[in-house]
Amino acid sequence: MLKILANDGMDSSAVKHLEDLGHKVVTEFHELDKLKQVINQYDVIVVRSATKVREELIDIMADGGKCKLVIRAGVGIDNIDHVYAESKGITVRNTPNSSSASVAELTIGHMFAISRFIGISNYTMRNGEWNKKQYKGVELAGKTLGLVGFGRISKEVAKRANALGMDVIYSEIMGEQEGYDEYRYVEFEELLKESDYISLHIPFIKEKGAAIGEKEIALMKDGVRIVNVARGGVVCEKSLLDALNSGKVAGAAIDVFEEEPTKNTELVNHPNVSVTPHIGASTKEAQKRIGIETYTTILEFFK
Ligand SMILES: NC(=O)c1ccc[n+]([C@@H]2O[C@H](COP(=O)([O-])OP(=O)(O)OC[C@H]3O[C@@H](n4cnc5c(N)ncnc54)[C@H](O)[C@@H]3O)[C@@H](O)[C@H]2O)c1
Repeated sequence: MLKILANDGMDSSAVKHLEDLGHKVVTEFHELDKLKQVINQYDVIVVRSATKVREELIDIMADGGKCKLVIRAGVGIDNIDHVYAESKGITVRNTPNSSSASVAELTIGHMFAISRFIGISNYTMRNGEWNKKQYKGVELAGKTLGLVGFGRISKEVAKRANALGMDVIYSEIMGEQEGYDEYRYVEFEELLKESDYISLHIPFIKEKGAAIGEKEIALMKDGVRIVNVARGGVVCEKSLLDALNSGKVAGAAIDVFEEEPTKNTELVNHPNVSVTPHIGASTKEAQKRIGIETYTTILEFFK
C-alpha cells in the first residue's frame, strides 16, 4: 500500500481509483511547518501550485528516505526546486499533457474579450452604464496571431485560431517544427513586428527574465494585443502597463501574474485588460485528465 499526500487536493475520481487499488490518499492541505512534520509518513507528495517544495522540505524528505516522488499536478514546476530534488534522489514529475486544451480555450476566450470589450461591458452595465458607442471592437478573423513558443498549448491555440480565420505565425527556440505547414515559422523579432495579437506559451526562466519588456513592445505594431496565460514574469507587468497607458498596446489578457494573488491593481483595473486568477487548467475535464495522469505516473513509478 502506498501513502499519497495530495496536499493541494486531487480529483475525486483519481482518489477513488487509487483507494480501490488499496492505496491511502490524504487530500488535506498542510502548511509548510506541518508538512515538514508529516512528509516522511508518505511515499508520494502531489502538489498543484499552492504548495512550494523548496530545498528545506526536500532535505527532510531526503533524510527520511521514504518520500521519493513529487508530482506537480499541472505543467509548470517552478514551485518545486526540481534540480535540487533530483540531486537528492527524489524524482519530480508533472502532468504536461492534460491541460493544453483548457489553456488554449481560455487563451481564445481572452482574445475575444480584449477585442470586443466583453469584460468591461459586464462591469459597466452592472453599474447602470450603456456604453454602446465606446465599445467598437475588432474581429479576430484576418488578423495575424504570433505565438511565442510552439509546444503543446501553443499548437492547440494555433488550431483554434486557424479555424477562426486568423493567420498564425510562431517563433520557437527549437526552430521550425515539422508537419505544421499551415502556420509560418518566423524569428522572434519578426513575430513582434508582424503580429496583431501576441500570445506567449513558454516557461518563465528567472535567469532570462521577461520575454516581453519595453524593448520588445517598442518593436510591435501600434494597437497590438498581448495575451499571457503562460507564467507570471514572461511579460513584464510594468512595461505592459506603460504601453497600455500610452495606447501602444490596445488590449492585454492576463491569467498569470508576477505575484499571485496579484497586488497590481492598476493593471487589473485597466479598462483594456481582461484578467483571470490563474485558471488556465481549471476545468472539470482538465482536472479529471490530470488526476488520471497523476495516478498513472504514481503506479508506473512504483511498479
Ligand atoms: N495558465 C495556466 O493555468 C497554465 C496551465 C498550464 C500551463 N501553463 C503554462 O503554459 C506554458 C506552456 O506550456 P506547454 O505545456 O505548452 O509547454 P511546452 O513545453 O509543451 O511548450 C513550450 C515551448 O516553448 C518553447 N520555448 C521556451 N522558451 C522559448 C522562447 N523564449 N522563445 C520561443 N520558444 C520558447 C519550448 O522549446 C517549447 O517548445 C508553460 O509556461 C506552462 O507553465 C499555464
